[in-house]
Amino acid sequence: MLRGLCAFGLALPVASRAQGTDGAATPPAENDRLVFAFGERAGAAIARDDVTLGAEQLFAYPMDPLTGEIRNGTRLNQLVLVHVDRAGLTEQTRARAVDGIVAYSGVCTHTGCDITDWDTSTNRFQCPCHESQFDPSDGARVVGGPAPWQLAALPLKLVDGMLAAAGEFEGRVGFQQPGLDPLGGLGT
Ligand code: FES
Repeated sequence: MLRGLCAFGLALPVASRAQGTDGAATPPAENDRLVFAFGERAGAAIARDDVTLGAEQLFAYPMDPLTGEIRNGTRLNQLVLVHVDRAGLTEQTRARAVDGIVAYSGVCTHTGCDITDWDTSTNRFQCPCHESQFDPSDGARVVGGPAPWQLAALPLKLVDGMLAAAGEFEGRVGFQQPGLDPLGGLGT
């Protein structure tokens, strides 16, 4: 079943690497730890076992491991984590995953809604605004709806049993607004 059709936010301007002087708005970097974005455990580090196989996505932010600063100064650093069957991952996606856990940008590439829904029948992310769907087992490629490109992927690794970034975003972070040129992203 799909979760409630509720987005946390609407489209906001896209950040750029030039804003990197503000650590909270700096894009995720290698070795950043991942922490819960919301709820009772907001700000706590996420362990591999916190991401349950087959469950709907968790929302996370990267955290600088040296300063402890959570990079929540822009929505574009918001991540969705999900644990899917490792055997079903494409080769490229498996290379970024920890077991079957994968991480992607949590902002829809269409007009920037948060990716809050999860279709348990197909194991796909779904955007609540215009029902774009993304396949987490295959690089979050678009498999339905108007989204113009896939969600950017964040490669993962484990550090002392906790989830961490193994690199920067791969792919284009950001979204397209109707009637405007596609807004740029943090990647290519
Ligand atoms: S904002 Fe996600 S489908 Fe339109």
